[in-house]
Amino acid sequence: MERVQLNLGTEATVRALQRGELPWTLHSACDFASDPGQWGASLINNAEVMVSCLEIAGARSVVEVGAYAGDLTRFLLGWAAPAGAQVSAIDPAPQDELVRLSERHPELELFRATSHEALREMSHADAYVIDGDHNYYTVSEELRLIAERQPDSGLPLLMLHDVGWPHARRDDYFAPELVPDAHRQPTIEGGGLFPGLSQPHPGGLPYKWPAAREGGPRNGVLTAVEDFVAADPKRVLAVVPSFFGLGIVWHLDAAYAKPLAQALAPLDRNPVIARLEANRVFHLASVHHQLTEVAAAHERLGRQEAVLKRLLVSSSFRLAESLSRLRHRAGIATEQPIVGKQEILRALESKPNQRRGDRRKT
Ligand SMILES: C[S@@+](CC[C@H](N)C(=O)[O-])C[C@H]1O[C@@H](n2cnc3c(N)ncnc32)[C@H](O)[C@@H]1O
Repeated sequence: MERVQLNLGTEATVRALQRGELPWTLHSACDFASDPGQWGASLINNAEVMVSCLEIAGARSVVEVGAYAGDLTRFLLGWAAPAGAQVSAIDPAPQDELVRLSERHPELELFRATSHEALREMSHADAYVIDGDHNYYTVSEELRLIAERQPDSGLPLLMLHDVGWPHARRDDYFAPELVPDAHRQPTIEGGGLFPGLSQPHPGGLPYKWPAAREGGPRNGVLTAVEDFVAADPKRVLAVVPSFFGLGIVWHLDAAYAKPLAQALAPLDRNPVIARLEANRVFHLASVHHQLTEVAAAHERLGRQEAVLKRLLVSSSFRLAESLSRLRHRAGIATEQPIVGKQEILRALESKPNQRRGDRRKT
């Protein structure tokens, strides 16, 4: 299963920052293995909220579904050690960083399997972090499997990533073949997503297999969570809108239900955080769009340069240049400058800022 290569342009910028080639620095709080393109894609960005929830719930075991490069997993291990809590991670395609983390931390249980396979085998935990395959079918099944393994009518603490844009109301599939046809939305491979546009669009944020349309029934992570919560009036959902959205679900009969609700109240659907997030994803998509435009312009420039270089060594062009000079001398079309070898050489050599400098000198 391959994760789509995201936002190469931003990654190149980040590499340049790390090599000290740009006059500003990458904020240390943003430097995560799972996020070379600086999307704020890891749940680690919401870690403090999550750990507060784990603390309030008194969780002693937590399962992370979809752990990728282990950025959150490492944080959870740090939280678990003093409390003697157990951390498990499920991922069918763990990145090397996560595998190395599990080798350094034998207490971390790493299941190389899909969530549906692993959750059927594992004993139940106090808390689950759900951040694997972001689509209605996969998430609904994960929630069903977790809920049915829970003793009595209770529910473990559930924390789900991507209940915000773009996956709140739009499926995405890591491996479409694992989702039965009847449960899969029509997709557009590599579709680019823009906030506010239902259909994928060239130059939008690239995802591997996004649904061709946003919205409607049985589409998206938030839709899956809302349907799950609606099935039992004692299930509660809070949404912290930061970094693609964190959903927290608990059961009203849980001993910690009241303090958890109190702790989350200021963050739940907080309009300022929601506005910040909307602004952030707008700029993320906008920068990506500009980078794709720049890449297309570079490509066009490369083709134009190749043609000009061919002209420089072409005998037909030399002939045309001589003819043009003759016409000029004869007083024909004198308002048109002669296109010659020197002009082409200048066009090939000059960079925009050099041209500005040249202009200032004259
Ligand atoms: C967004 S990443 C997880 C990031 C991580 N939780 C973090 O916050 O840093 C999604 C991960 O889910 C994994 N994944 C994809 N399909 C899955 C499935 N059916 N079950 C479990 N994990 C899955 C992918 O291999 C990928 O590593």
